[in-house]
Amino acid sequence: MGLRDRIAAERDQLVAAARLDGEGTISAYRRKLLDEVDLNELAKLTPTQRRARLERVVGHLLTREGPVLSNAERTSLVRQIVDAALGLGVLEPLLSDETVTEIMVNGPGEVWIEREGKLERVKTRFADEAQLYQTIDRIVSAVNRRVDESSPMVDARLPGGERVNVIIPPLALNGPSITIRRFPRTFSMDELMELGTLDESVRRLLGACVRARFNLIVSGGTGTGKTTLLNALSAFIPESERIITIEDSAELQLQQPHVISLESRPPNVEGKGQVTIRDLVRNSLRMRPDRILVGEVRGAETLDMLQAMNTGHEGSIATVHANSTEDAIMRLETLASMTDLTIPFEALRDQVNSGIDVIVQLERNVDGSRRVVEVAAVASRRRETFRLATITRFDFDPIGPDRVVSGRFRHYRMPPAMLKRLALAGEEVPEEFSVTGDEPEAPEREAS
Ligand SMILES: Nc1ncnc2c1ncn2[C@@H]1O[C@H](COP(=O)(O)OP(=O)(O)O)[C@@H](O)[C@H]1O
Ligand SMILES: [Mg+2]
Repeated sequence: MGLRDRIAAERDQLVAAARLDGEGTISAYRRKLLDEVDLNELAKLTPTQRRARLERVVGHLLTREGPVLSNAERTSLVRQIVDAALGLGVLEPLLSDETVTEIMVNGPGEVWIEREGKLERVKTRFADEAQLYQTIDRIVSAVNRRVDESSPMVDARLPGGERVNVIIPPLALNGPSITIRRFPRTFSMDELMELGTLDESVRRLLGACVRARFNLIVSGGTGTGKTTLLNALSAFIPESERIITIEDSAELQLQQPHVISLESRPPNVEGKGQVTIRDLVRNSLRMRPDRILVGEVRGAETLDMLQAMNTGHEGSIATVHANSTEDAIMRLETLASMTDLTIPFEALRDQVNSGIDVIVQLERNVDGSRRVVEVAAVASRRRETFRLATITRFDFDPIGPDRVVSGRFRHYRMPPAMLKRLALAGEEVPEEFSVTGDEPEAPEREAS
């Protein structure tokens, strides 16, 4: 069998399911089905009875309002819907609830969810450990992997695209643990402004930086909205450019016509076939990219990315996990040192100073809102100690009893070199950032 056929054969099943699901058929019926049946009553049935009962209900639903189907199509559709509904058992209602962004199972008796950025414990529980293991088996066998003593941690994806991580005892002391992360919805810049994540001035500033091919880093903790902001920023990239995105699991949903999405791959059951973010970054340089967007830098790929930024691939954007802009710039240096090559720290600092132009820091506030708390320009050059100039900062008001977070964005005059670069690129920036404004000059500080 040729390569093309082999890949096609492997994907056939997935595609068949996805085609139906693409039209929302399966997930729509799964939701209807779960609305229709009494889950407590269902739990009392044996697996065979449960399936039979669900098939009957789906049959009625399809007859009542379904598309016109041949007998074979109908049988297959019923089976797929019931599979989807039974798939994750007690977790299904949580999965079909759009407001739930994350589901965390810490052993059979404890389930947490994230909703609007906040954690809450829910009443959902598994009957026993065996039932939890059954669910885990369903999740991982769908992606051709297995979980056992020898591979106790697995990443997988659900048919709907949700990311799943499974880790079992003895590594997980609470019992088998599942973390399901919903495919994040996208937010446009306008929506982010409405949510108060940034203001009009910051939006215009970032737009100018992206169009002028500044290299940007979006920094923040887990779930602070880095990927979401990266996605929104990508809308500023001109349609004429060839964009390559590199991620651990493809989340970015770019709107441009010319986008190549690359996804890394963990090793298979035999420990083979791994493709790292670093491999993909290196490969992407041979693909004539105009822009490289890296979902998150976590290791040695940072060096390759910096080298790319310094050798003609300006305009790249990446995210990094860090708690402040200082933390981010230091972390980039540390990550870039994680290669087998021994590179003097001064040389790495040079790469960071020359490569990175602007760092955008995100924070998740106690009320669940996300904010751009700082936009900083890298003011240091060559081998100097890192220096950051604050162009925008969010000043928080003291939090009142209602726990609502408020405050205001403060803007500063940009460093002249940055302003000049934007001007040369034909970009205008809002007055509050330009030299002629009344705003104070961007305060600088050292990061070390
Ligand atoms: N600005 C925002 N306001 C409110 N919710 C947000 C915002 N940005 C992201 N989110 C939500 O927060 C969750 C995590 O976002 P994501 O971008 O994946 O974070 P990160 O990449 O930092 O881990 C998602 O459910 C997303 O919809
Ligand atoms: Mg992310």
